[in-house]
Amino acid sequence: MSIFIKNIKKLVNCREESPELLRGAQLGELPCIENAYLIIDNEEIADMGEMSELLPDQLHAIESSVDKVIDATGRMVLPSYCDSHTHLVYAGSREMEFSDKLHGLSYQEIAARGGGILNSVELLHNTSEDILLKQALERADEIISFGTGAVEIKSGYGLTLEDEMKMLRVAARISSERPLTVKTTLLAAHAVPSRYKGNREGYVDEIIKEIIPAVAAEGLAEYVDIFCEEGFFTVEDAERIFEAGAKYGLRPTVHANQMSVSGGVEVGIKHHAISVDHLEFTGQAQWRALAESDTIATLLPGATFFLNMDYPDARAMIKEGVAVAIASNYNPGSCPAGDMKFMMALALLKMKITPEEAINAATVNGAYAMGVEEIHGSITPGKKASLFITKEIPSYEFIPYSFTTPLVETVILKGKIYE
Ligand code: NIG
Repeated sequence: MSIFIKNIKKLVNCREESPELLRGAQLGELPCIENAYLIIDNEEIADMGEMSELLPDQLHAIESSVDKVIDATGRMVLPSYCDSHTHLVYAGSREMEFSDKLHGLSYQEIAARGGGILNSVELLHNTSEDILLKQALERADEIISFGTGAVEIKSGYGLTLEDEMKMLRVAARISSERPLTVKTTLLAAHAVPSRYKGNREGYVDEIIKEIIPAVAAEGLAEYVDIFCEEGFFTVEDAERIFEAGAKYGLRPTVHANQMSVSGGVEVGIKHHAISVDHLEFTGQAQWRALAESDTIATLLPGATFFLNMDYPDARAMIKEGVAVAIASNYNPGSCPAGDMKFMMALALLKMKITPEEAINAATVNGAYAMGVEEIHGSITPGKKASLFITKEIPSYEFIPYSFTTPLVETVILKGKIYE
């Protein structure tokens, strides 16, 4: 299928060449073309430019040769968001923990009482793969309608080989059922399951000896993650799991410094993690180390908001030269929401990020943070035509500004209009 989108008020984040990972001042540069056109051929972006460059004959020739012409007068086109940290596959919900929270219990206290992640683990164990898929597809459809075109999905509510594999198979099935690009991460080290209560190391042994080899043998994950946090897993556990994962080609990513200065950032950098995520408890030392590394700092403002915590200082990170990405962290416990527009709004309001930085962090750097930068993250010829057309809006700043108004009018994923 070929599509010609004409009269685009602004083609946002369009780059002739696929950009490098963005840091510092680069994050604030958002290349755009005003009054633009875009040509899509099959799954890919074929061409783009200013409407004024097209001679009347050329315009006529294009319009009569393509399968579909879309007039985007007053509308903007943006590359799909790349949501590089989610737990999209889960069973049911955990709204009952709201009242615990309102009564003053912290995330860790709820977890220590057997709630939290372990609650979702039990629900998932009692849910069939097909029902799990049905629930996950509802969330996938929801994020597609918000403008997301690539999503990373973690396991971590199984905590047995069988249930971790069930989650990862569901994640893989999402990408066959929907035109989303999906990357999968093994997060068996998300919580210590009840059967290993008091024997965390025993569970880490099981992850290393059984879960990693079996998941890798079936090619069910590309990354390996750990919740490196007081009350969950230690830096030593991370070292062991990352070394084991490396033998099977699984690159690390870390839930780091979410509730405390956990050492997650340092162990992630040491093992060349693609990203370290959360980072509420970080300061100059961690930012400097990140700035000197290839590891991306993925900020999850939706979880900071939902857990009512202090936000990480993104402004200082960017100043230090850290490559910052923004993701939703869609999950049942700390962020039951996957709207990247809302995440960008929070980043602006609470982390002092600019609109340009937020868009880059949610697209270009998000793509890097999940290893899809060659095909997603910017409007670039040769990349997948995964993008969205907005409703009529005055400016791109209007997107995070009007943070609850649906502004996505048309979604195109891998060259097809998604209806
Ligand atoms: O990224 N922090 C650990 N994992 C998730 C929350 C998972 C849950 O509570 O179900 C997070 O915030």
